[in-house]
Amino acid sequence: MQTKTPTHVAMILDGNGRWAKAHNKPRTQGHVEGAKALKKVIQTLEKTACQVVSIFVFSTENWRRPKAEVDFLMSLPKRFQKDIDELSKDSTGIKVVFSGRKDRLSPANQALIEKYEAQSKTNTGLIVNVCLDYGFKDEMVHATQAIAKAVQNGLAVEAIDESLLESHLYTHPLPPVDLVIRTSGERRLSNFLLWQSAYAELYFTETYWPDFDAAELQKAFDFYASRDRRFGTVES
Ligand code: IPE
Ligand code: MG
Repeated sequence: MQTKTPTHVAMILDGNGRWAKAHNKPRTQGHVEGAKALKKVIQTLEKTACQVVSIFVFSTENWRRPKAEVDFLMSLPKRFQKDIDELSKDSTGIKVVFSGRKDRLSPANQALIEKYEAQSKTNTGLIVNVCLDYGFKDEMVHATQAIAKAVQNGLAVEAIDESLLESHLYTHPLPPVDLVIRTSGERRLSNFLLWQSAYAELYFTETYWPDFDAAELQKAFDFYASRDRRFGTVES
């Protein structure tokens, strides 16, 4: 069976810096334009059958960027508060969840994340999974530590199976990723949702993230609809 619209789309928002350079603007402006593009893409996704969108906004490796850029990226959750509030104010609006480490975020951002999650908790619309200080390798370490503790507390080793491991991922209980989109011409997964994307279709576009819009999203969805997903079995 072929599902025509992906239930879960994961997006690697890449190319903000190169977009800024191409427009003779500071990199920070690229991130602002990227956030604006993201809002529009979310609004477009809300009108489709897609139920979950995961967005890679800051990786566990992004801390290595210059401090000024890290500080700016970390100011975005606050800077776009009005937009996030607007998108989640109705009960049919977006439900915001976060995946990633929380311990390295500022107390202000930790509080903001809690607020965004709490205020949209019962919303029935598109789930927006914000991957912030997220890395799949870190997610594995976190899950392994939790399972090891459970074993110390009496869990049988034989009880560790795929579903138990999955239940310890930051993204639990979100469904698997159907489609990964990466912008800006890079063809890498960069430590993003590797377990969750085990059977995902991969879509790459040269477009820089700030230029990614409804028409670009449609191209990605058309690509997805053309794929025959076999999940290791034979043609349907
Ligand atoms: C993506 O754009 C934004 C984040 C990773 C936060 P980049 O900042 O990676 O843009 P390029 O790759 O330098 O163009
Ligand atoms: Mg990049």
